[in-house]
Amino acid sequence: MEIQHNQIYNEDCLEFMKKLPDNYFDLIITDPPYGIDVCKTGKVGIKGASKPKEYGVCEWDNSIPTEECFKEMLRVSKNQIIFGGNYMTQYLNPSSCWIVWDKDNQDSFFADCELAWTSFDKAVRKFKYRWWGMLQENMKWKEKRLHPTQKPVPLGRWILNKFAKEGDLIFDPFAGSGSFLVACKQLGFKFVGCEINKDYVEICKRRLVQQSVDDFTLPNGNFATQKSLISVKEEFQK
Ligand SMILES: C[S@@+](CC[C@H](N)C(=O)[O-])C[C@H]1O[C@@H](n2cnc3c(N)ncnc32)[C@H](O)[C@@H]1O
Repeated sequence: MEIQHNQIYNEDCLEFMKKLPDNYFDLIITDPPYGIDVCKTGKVGIKGASKPKEYGVCEWDNSIPTEECFKEMLRVSKNQIIFGGNYMTQYLNPSSCWIVWDKDNQDSFFADCELAWTSFDKAVRKFKYRWWGMLQENMKWKEKRLHPTQKPVPLGRWILNKFAKEGDLIFDPFAGSGSFLVACKQLGFKFVGCEINKDYVEICKRRLVQQSVDDFTLPNGNFATQKSLISVKEEFQK
């Protein structure tokens, strides 16, 4: 199967991966359904920093991916980083290297951190980035919330700078609004995404075209230049 790079595919990722050879991707960075029914009421978040946001009822978070899907992710890629891995330990090997994303939440209802399992033989790594209702770490370059479980693009950039090598081909089989794909685009990594929901695919496509608008609008309303993107890259390489 001929795969186009730097594209999002509106497909079931299991069916998509079945068409691919072993080790096709260098790295999977993904955030699958955690099986916690996160948007069963259609609203996400309670009290705290802002009132709950309406995303519409959805059922995709009823269960985690199947064992077959995990086997395929491990087959088609050389390395993997899987958010919510703590809900999926039956399908993942013990690892020395988990990623801890400290969301800098300011109340006791929401989790302080999220965990990602990795296949790397490294130590645990931590990234602190506030993501609490309307409050974000970088209020000057605030990201629009378009998906009920959207991850911050700077989290994706931090992961790429820590775990990917120049020239790597990155895959996100559960792309959602495409936060990790946008990070790839900003840092010049080749990528492929899959997302089963066509509305999310449209959001993802729009963000990929307009990523400088959504994620890099400067305080004066101008869009960030290539030069400022490079300085972001350097900032995360420190
Ligand atoms: C946790 S969300 C990902 C959110 C994403 N990280 C973001 O920043 O927007 C998981 C996504 O997987 C999608 N999904 C669920 N099952 C899928 C499947 N079999 N193939 C592709 N996408 C799937 C859901 O529609 C949902 O958007």
